[in-house]
Amino acid sequence: MSFDIRNYLDKRKEIVDRALWEYLPPDEAKTKLQQSIVYSIHPGGKRLRPVLCLAASELICGSHKNALPAACAVEMIHTYSIIHDDLPSMDDDDTRRGKPANHRVFGEAVATLAGDALLTDAFSLMTEKLLKQGVSPELILRVVSVISEAAGSKGMVLGQAFDLEMDEGEHLSVNEISNTYLMKTAKMIEASVLSGAMLAGAGEEELLRLKSYSEKIGIAFQIKDDILDVTGSDDTAQESREKAGAKKHTYVSVMEIQASKAKVSELTNQAIVELESFPKDPNPLREIAVWLREREE
Ligand code: IPE
Ligand code: IPE
Ligand code: MG
Ligand code: MG
Repeated sequence: MSFDIRNYLDKRKEIVDRALWEYLPPDEAKTKLQQSIVYSIHPGGKRLRPVLCLAASELICGSHKNALPAACAVEMIHTYSIIHDDLPSMDDDDTRRGKPANHRVFGEAVATLAGDALLTDAFSLMTEKLLKQGVSPELILRVVSVISEAAGSKGMVLGQAFDLEMDEGEHLSVNEISNTYLMKTAKMIEASVLSGAMLAGAGEEELLRLKSYSEKIGIAFQIKDDILDVTGSDDTAQESREKAGAKKHTYVSVMEIQASKAKVSELTNQAIVELESFPKDPNPLREIAVWLREREE
C-alpha cells in the first residue's frame, strides 16, 4: 500500500498542536502579551518544522515524547520569526496565516515583545521538559546549542539581514540568493531535523547525512515558496506579488519559473539520496521531501 502522506502529516500536526496547547494554554492568557503570544501560536500553520522533528526522531526509532519539547521549541522560534518578519520595519505585511498580522492586532511594541518571549520561552520550556523526562543534561545542552546557533546571528537572523539587502541590491547572483535561503529558512529546518534525531540517539554519521538532507529541502522549500507567490491564486500570493513589485529579488525573479522548478526537483532528489543509508521504509523524511516539492500552498 502506498504511504498516505496527508494522513501522516495530519496525525503529527495534531500531536504538535496538542503539546503546544498544553505548553501555552489559550485559556490562561490573561495579559496582552500572553494574548498576543497565543494569537500567533494557535491555530498556527503547517507545523512543518515540528513535524520534521518528530519524523527525524521516528527515523532513528526514538519516542515522540522525547522529541516533542524540541518540536514545540522550534515552532515557537519559527512563530517569533514570522511575527518579527511581518513588522513594518521588516516586510510590513498586514496578514499572516489568513488573519491580521500580530502587530495589526496588538500593536508593534507588544508584537515585538511577543516574539522576544517566544524565542526565550522556547528554550526554557524545552530544557525544563527534557530535564523532567530524564534526558541527560549533556544531550540537552547539545540540542540547545544546535537550535540556538541555527536561530541566531550565524543562522536565521543572519538570513533575515541578508534578505533586507535583497530589497536594495542591484545585482544579486543566484548563489547569493541561495545562501540567503540557506540562512533564513534552511537553518531552522535543519535544527528541527537534527534536534529530533539527536534526542532519538542518532550517531555522528547519521547527523551529517540529515544535515545535508535538511539544507537541501530547506532551500527547496523557500524556492517553492517563491514559485507559489508567483503562481498561487490565494490572497497571500496576490498580496505578496503586489508588494514585491519590481524591487525585491527572489530566486524566481532571477532564474524564471521553469529553472526554479527544476532547482526544487534537483535539490529534492539530492536530499533523498542522503537518506539512502537509513534502512527504514517507508521513510517519513523522504515522503515529506516529495510532498514539499509537490505542495500547492
Ligand atoms: C513561512 O514558513 C516563512 C518561510 C520561511 C517561507 P511556513 O510556510 O512554514 O509558515 P507556516 O508556519 O506554515 O505558516
Ligand atoms: C520569512 O521569509 C523567513 C523568516 C521569517 C525567517 P519571507 O518573508 O520570505 O516569508 P513570508 O512570505 O513572509 O512567509
Ligand atoms: Mg521576510
Ligand atoms: Mg515576509
